[in-house]
Amino acid sequence: MSKNENIVKFMLDNKVVEIDFEKDNISPTTTVLKYLRKTPEHKGVKEGCGEGDCGACTVVIADYDSHSKLHYKAYTSCLIFLPSIHGKQIITVEGVGSSDNMHPVQSALVETDGSQCGYCTPGFTMSMFALYKEYQKPSKDVILDALTGNLCRCTGYRPIIEAAEKSCVRNGKDHFSDNENATVETLKKIRKEIPSVKIETKKQKYFLPATVKEALELKMKYPKAIIINGGTDVALRVTKKKELLSEIIDLTGILELKYAKDEQNQMVFGSGICLEDVRVIVKNEFSALYDMLSIFGSKQVRNRATFGGSLGSASPIGDTAPVLMAYDAILVLESLQGTREIQSREFVTGYRQTQMKENELIVAVKIPKIDKSEIVKSYKISKRKDLDISTVSSGFRLKKSAKNIVEEICLVYGGMAATTSRSKQAEAFLLGKEWTRENIEKAMKLVDEDFTPISDARSGAEARKIMARNLLLKFYNDSICN
Ligand SMILES: Cc1cc2nc3c(=O)[nH]c(=O)nc-3n(C[C@H](O)[C@H](O)[C@H](O)COP(=O)(O)OP(=O)(O)OC[C@H]3O[C@@H](n4cnc5c(N)ncnc54)[C@H](O)[C@@H]3O)c2cc1C
Ligand code: FES
Ligand code: FES
Repeated sequence: MSKNENIVKFMLDNKVVEIDFEKDNISPTTTVLKYLRKTPEHKGVKEGCGEGDCGACTVVIADYDSHSKLHYKAYTSCLIFLPSIHGKQIITVEGVGSSDNMHPVQSALVETDGSQCGYCTPGFTMSMFALYKEYQKPSKDVILDALTGNLCRCTGYRPIIEAAEKSCVRNGKDHFSDNENATVETLKKIRKEIPSVKIETKKQKYFLPATVKEALELKMKYPKAIIINGGTDVALRVTKKKELLSEIIDLTGILELKYAKDEQNQMVFGSGICLEDVRVIVKNEFSALYDMLSIFGSKQVRNRATFGGSLGSASPIGDTAPVLMAYDAILVLESLQGTREIQSREFVTGYRQTQMKENELIVAVKIPKIDKSEIVKSYKISKRKDLDISTVSSGFRLKKSAKNIVEEICLVYGGMAATTSRSKQAEAFLLGKEWTRENIEKAMKLVDEDFTPISDARSGAEARKIMARNLLLKFYNDSICN
């Protein structure tokens, strides 16, 4: 065994920490939250829900980009396994400031009375710290978005929002700013020393490869291994279902999967780019995707979740699939034998079944640019706007002639069947017809015939049918208002 096996290294606040999973008898699927709570100096981080919903466990992870610039992002530490933070700086509420030298966001929280019982305060502090570092004078919308993933049962939020408005005005300058070059150098040194992580304990194997090639070789050797791209789905199998995951290939350390390329006719995204970065990039070109990502989870979840995970899981209620199918996106799959492309509309073959082979990984998603005359919209119905899973979602696309005749139509629904599915009968009926309310009302009846949804905790089957019909009507109304 090489001397670096079973070891991960990272910066915890300003200190380099090394964990030897075998010697220290730690499971590699220990979450960052559980690890921190066990260290005497980091009890500030709190556990609320253990599933990404409350934000009490928020920490900031700093990582450098291709220009060696450090970026600070907020994450819920209950959704991150320890090996994933190898070569990164994790900043906790203890590191952000101290009682005699508070960080500006902490001082503002004190001044505005932004804390009462205090349980949520470390989490809010860290979300606000990430905002402070990345934005100068953020708008109210940006502040609300940054704090959506944090719940407070006491304050009513107003003083917390005020604290963010008051403090995020100094261009991110603070005691971290002076050390950034040194931090980047330290992180680079760690990754040079241990580029990829291999952990083997008695019960588990956990790999954190540094390249796609390495990941594919591992996939070949361990075809049943669980893949993690952002881990926001997989982490719950450990924190909620208490599963012992015996083989894991964690792609979070592969920089070559985290990119976005603007090509003439399409945009290409690496499967590991986080959905928050995608959201920012697609705002103008793919507004329907932007709209859907703006109500996807919370900022902490989007900072972590990826296209690879949202498509690879083939969830029938996943929010990216309907809109990507409407855009006619293409998935790029890679194995050691080469790459192949599959239409997103054909990728899923059954409940959580896809065309992907055991030795393949999703490495990229290509989204063709649309003609300006086409209309693409996305809709999501859930019990609440933020941090909720869809009851019914949809991605719709329409191309019509100057004479108002439907030339192309794609009506994709999530939450209506075992897979994300098109309303084939409604599409066939509308094709070649005039785009009128009368025809839409006829098509709505066919949407009904196309689906036999289930009743579950989110909704009854009949309600789902009503939602699906009405979403088509909404699309029509929105299309004529354009
Ligand atoms: C608090 C919270 C809120 C959420 N809100 C939403 C929401 O609003 N909308 C929504 O749709 N989802 C939501 N989710 C679910 C989850 O965030 C999404 O499904 C997310 O897109 C998963 O992406 P990931 O990268 O984290 O997946 P991971 O957990 O990393 O992976 C999930 C699965 O995808 C497969 N996979 C991952 N990467 C690849 C790859 N490169 N190649 C092949 N297969 C791969 C693997 O089988 C893996 O098991 C939420 C989850 C939480 C915890
Ligand atoms: S403990 Fe609630 S989000 Fe992590
Ligand atoms: S201050 Fe009590 S939960 Fe926020």
